Amino acid sequence: MVRKKGLKNYIISKHRDPFFKKAKNTGYRSRSAFKLIELNKKFKFIKSNSTVIDLGSAPGGWSQVASQLIKRGITLSVDLKDMEIIKGVKFLKLDFLEEKNKKKIIEAIDTKADIVLSDMAADTTGNKNLDCIRTNLLCAEVIEFARFVLKDTGVVVSKLFNGTDFIKVKNLAKKNFKKVNFFKPKSSKDASKETYIHCEGIKTL
Ligand SMILES: C[S@@+](CC[C@H](N)C(=O)[O-])C[C@H]1O[C@@H](n2cnc3c(N)ncnc32)[C@H](O)[C@@H]1O
Repeated sequence: MVRKKGLKNYIISKHRDPFFKKAKNTGYRSRSAFKLIELNKKFKFIKSNSTVIDLGSAPGGWSQVASQLIKRGITLSVDLKDMEIIKGVKFLKLDFLEEKNKKKIIEAIDTKADIVLSDMAADTTGNKNLDCIRTNLLCAEVIEFARFVLKDTGVVVSKLFNGTDFIKVKNLAKKNFKKVNFFKPKSSKDASKETYIHCEGIKTL
């Protein structure tokens, strides 16, 4: 009964959510699409010739936004789950955390990338602290991978949680990138600890 009530409240709040409605009306597959639109408005990193790797891409909102802005570049999307085809977007179904899969991603773009995006979130366990640690670990992996695959002027935009290990990830980013900023889009729910890190320009170590 309690679970049923919880599900009902979730469905009601989802349908009252303005970004959920906006996504339905504009044809975006997720309300997350508006987070990338806001992030790009703030930091202006997606160019018409960008090569972009979108990690944790399903159901495809961020990839839709990126591919609409990119005319002569490449969008490579990666997820553990299936993703319906988006015209002009390459897709790999794999676990980003496995080393052999990182190689597959690099081979699939066959050039250095301009942008690495990650909206990856670890599956929720019910333990908020553990979920925070696991998602921030994904963000740390993204930063290390990005250092390897990006052009010197490249950009990483990744989800992370403002909680345990946030400072560790921030320090890792500052060690590897010249500019590091944080931004929480309006479309990211206030109640969520989610924020986004924007890093630009690889530091020579
Ligand atoms: C919040 S959703 C992304 C939403 C997406 N940005 C959009 O706009 O539609 C997070 C995604 O990260 C993916 N993910 C989590 N861990 C992953 C991993 N290790 N490798 C690949 N994908 C992963 C999940 O399968 C999930 O689809």
